[in-house]
Amino acid sequence: MATVLITSGPTREFLDPVRFLSNASSGRMGRALAEAFCTAGHRVIVVSGPVAIDYPPQAEIVSVVTTEEMLKACQSIFPDCDGVIGAAAPCDFRPEQMATRKIVKSGTPLTLRLVETPDILASLGMMKRHQWIVGFALETHNARQHALEKIQKKRCDLMVVNRPSAIGSDCSSVEVLDSEGTCLAEWTGTKTDIALRLRELIEQKLLKLSNSVGGG
Ligand code: C5P
Repeated sequence: MATVLITSGPTREFLDPVRFLSNASSGRMGRALAEAFCTAGHRVIVVSGPVAIDYPPQAEIVSVVTTEEMLKACQSIFPDCDGVIGAAAPCDFRPEQMATRKIVKSGTPLTLRLVETPDILASLGMMKRHQWIVGFALETHNARQHALEKIQKKRCDLMVVNRPSAIGSDCSSVEVLDSEGTCLAEWTGTKTDIALRLRELIEQKLLKLSNSVGGG
């Protein structure tokens, strides 16, 4: 049995103590994946941003708020895992400075200067030894080409390419690419269906790999 790290949900980046940047990720894909892996007897650790859903009771949950917190939690957990699935939608930008007091309206436009947050999967990609990495890529156009760039940047073994309509929905339509960008599968269905199929593919293609490297 494997130990699988799953990132899930959105993160938040605060402008001031009460306002933040975020996105509409619900954590449903992460939950479906956690269920699929727990059901098969794998150990599952979910690092999740703020969500309104419940994860399966067998999964270990680490709750975080910001992208930096998600990064730190993943970096400490990843070395003891067989692989990671990046189902989270971390907030890619944060205000360069967070105001310590609530920003007051002044009647003039407010300019925010944003800086990029760290890429969690890319950072785990730099750390990876025997582990495998599975990413998700949400694309509106040139899906395969953009996904291939992300596969290389994040050192992914598999990339699940989906569409913006997947956000907040129970269903999704995906293509699964391997590390060279070759399409291995196309699936349409509920996130539960897709999670079960992805678990089977990971068990066939990647768990064997990490077991053999680990001497099992
Ligand atoms: O680059 P993009 O956000 O499209 O890549 C999506 C993949 O990268 C997802 O698997 C997501 O969980 C992961 N990601 C990450 N850290 C970020 C942004 C995205 O791990 N800061």
